[in-house]
Amino acid sequence: MGQKVILSGMRPTGKLQLGNLLGALDNWVKLQHEYKCFFSVVDWHALTTAYDDPSGLKENVYEMVIDWLSAGLDPEKNVIFRQSDVLEHAELHLLFSMFTPLSWLERCPTYKDQIEQLREKNLATYGFLGYPLLQAADILVYRADAVPVGEDQAPHIEMTREVARRFNFLYNKQVFPEPATILNQVKLLPGIDGRKMSKSYGNVIEMSEPPEEVRRKVSQMITDPGRIRKNDPGNPDVCTVFAFHGVFSAGGKDTVAEVCRRGEIGCVQCKKQLSDSLVEYLDPIYRRRLQLAANRDYVREILRKGAKRAKEEAARTMEQVRAVMGLSL
Ligand code: TRP
Ligand code: SF4
Repeated sequence: MGQKVILSGMRPTGKLQLGNLLGALDNWVKLQHEYKCFFSVVDWHALTTAYDDPSGLKENVYEMVIDWLSAGLDPEKNVIFRQSDVLEHAELHLLFSMFTPLSWLERCPTYKDQIEQLREKNLATYGFLGYPLLQAADILVYRADAVPVGEDQAPHIEMTREVARRFNFLYNKQVFPEPATILNQVKLLPGIDGRKMSKSYGNVIEMSEPPEEVRRKVSQMITDPGRIRKNDPGNPDVCTVFAFHGVFSAGGKDTVAEVCRRGEIGCVQCKKQLSDSLVEYLDPIYRRRLQLAANRDYVREILRKGAKRAKEEAARTMEQVRAVMGLSL
């Protein structure tokens, strides 16, 4: 038996945030040592919601690959590619659409949710409804054994297993494995104002932020509002700075909580300590990004090679699929 196969993807919608780094990318970086990994920049998926304005799409694909490499994904070890370069995804999606009941897609919890959330968009489209099925094709075209995703995506992987089962049953051949879900560990990071981190709130820290920006944003973070003077006892549980200490100052976290409760540290100094930890964590990423951003040709070459390797594997699957669906001559 060869190595187990993993596939995952992200929609290119702009520079990744700290939450993406901790929630997903850091996880991928670990998995790359244990599995044969396919990592896809899913640009077709981005178009399911941004079909009316593709002007930034190409740029966002570059930014995404640069973020991935900066975080430590190894382009030799992994297959890093753009979805739209491997047409087999579209072919498999089409063939799956022949036997996938509409109700599976209509019932998908993310479907109604997203339509609600993006109410300003017309998402009553064929492509948007079919999004999870395209995702199933992304995964199954590599016969992946497992898919690392966030909890919100779990229903899509469940549907992927259903699609695999239905295919294998209908055509009486075990072409597809039923991929397992590897849940990303969530480390909840609020935005700098304490609300959910979100571009629309303008409270985001990007993973590739320059050190001075990191420090500036930390200095703007909301602390315990009940604390007036520097030696008042503070409450770390309601403090944004402390939420970050919890993630980035692993060992020092309990000490921070104690000295804060006893009023022995001022918020300015506490923020300084957080800035130091955060900058130390992000600095190597930032440096790699500077180099990569100046070298577009290198990034393009990674995508070219990645597409070639992805296509080889996808083509093997499609041969079997075409054969059992009466499409070979
Ligand atoms: N739907 C995923 C998201 O929005 C992105 C995605 C597309 C994906 N295809 C995938 C994730 C395949 C895992 C595997 O986050
Ligand atoms: Fe928050 Fe630190 Fe100030 Fe306590 S000392 S309120 S943890 S910034």
